[in-house]
Amino acid sequence: MTPRTPVPRTVLVLGGTSDIAHAICCRFTAAGTHTIILAGRDQTALAARAHHLRSVGTPATDIALFDALDTDGHQAFIDGVFTRHPTIDLTLLAFGALGEPHCRDSCPQQALHLIRTNYLGAVSLLTLLTRRLQAQGRGDIVVLSSVAALLPRPSNHLYASSKAGLDVYCQGLRERLAGSGVHLLIVRPGFVRTHMTAHLPTSPPLATTPDAVAAVTLNALTKGKTTAWAPPAIRWIILALQHLPPSLRSHLPHMR
Ligand SMILES: NC(=O)c1ccc[n+]([C@@H]2O[C@H](COP(=O)([O-])OP(=O)(O)OC[C@H]3O[C@@H](n4cnc5c(N)ncnc54)[C@H](OP(=O)(O)O)[C@@H]3O)[C@@H](O)[C@H]2O)c1
Repeated sequence: MTPRTPVPRTVLVLGGTSDIAHAICCRFTAAGTHTIILAGRDQTALAARAHHLRSVGTPATDIALFDALDTDGHQAFIDGVFTRHPTIDLTLLAFGALGEPHCRDSCPQQALHLIRTNYLGAVSLLTLLTRRLQAQGRGDIVVLSSVAALLPRPSNHLYASSKAGLDVYCQGLRERLAGSGVHLLIVRPGFVRTHMTAHLPTSPPLATTPDAVAAVTLNALTKGKTTAWAPPAIRWIILALQHLPPSLRSHLPHMR
């Protein structure tokens, strides 16, 4: 674990309308980040987020459009971002889909949608991004995984499997990048109260907030960690619960 500077000058956010990403961007702004590029698929919503970031003091914002599902368009998207911003200090991968609770495993379209968004889309973008950052000789990547990657539940196993694929890919990528100057941080939040979980009637124990995830993320970057959990204590709970027999696991509350 090598201590690092926590203040990237230019930040690219993949999933620029995410509530967690927005909280992280606010903290970067307070720490001194100059430029934040919000990337996503909804120009109007991205513009609203950019406007709010400028109102809290971000000196410069930009918007770029991509869809995680449109893997054929990813090369042009990454090329476009690097043409406008030749040096990206930190990229936050924050997009993701949770899926409709009523569909579960009965809905093959939803299964493909989640895998394509959370795994295929993310791997496609990370592959292209990593090439650029290696050429640049440095850079940070922060990926929002989930505790679900380690503890799938009956109601979220499609989402969990897509996050597990992404998490394992990132663990391998992180090792491959060792010595390249490119650093990858995997953040595994539990249940966070955001737009993604707003439709769920109750919050489980240890539910947290976007700002708490942001604090954990910046702290982990400062300390040069490779993995972070939000809240931090959930790490030990998940590791313990992984050893429960499946019959007992099915009675647990959801933690995303
Ligand atoms: N909330 C939780 O409990 C929780 C827990 C663990 C991990 N996470 C992860 O944290 C990340 C951020 O989630 P959040 O809680 O901040 O939820 P959120 O506010 O709903 O953000 C989700 C983001 O994903 C984007 N997105 C979805 N599909 C996309 C696509 N095909 N192409 C491009 N962007 C797409 C959304 O863009 P639009 O605005 O265009 O829809 C939005 O920016 C996700 O990866 C999520 O899996 C969340």
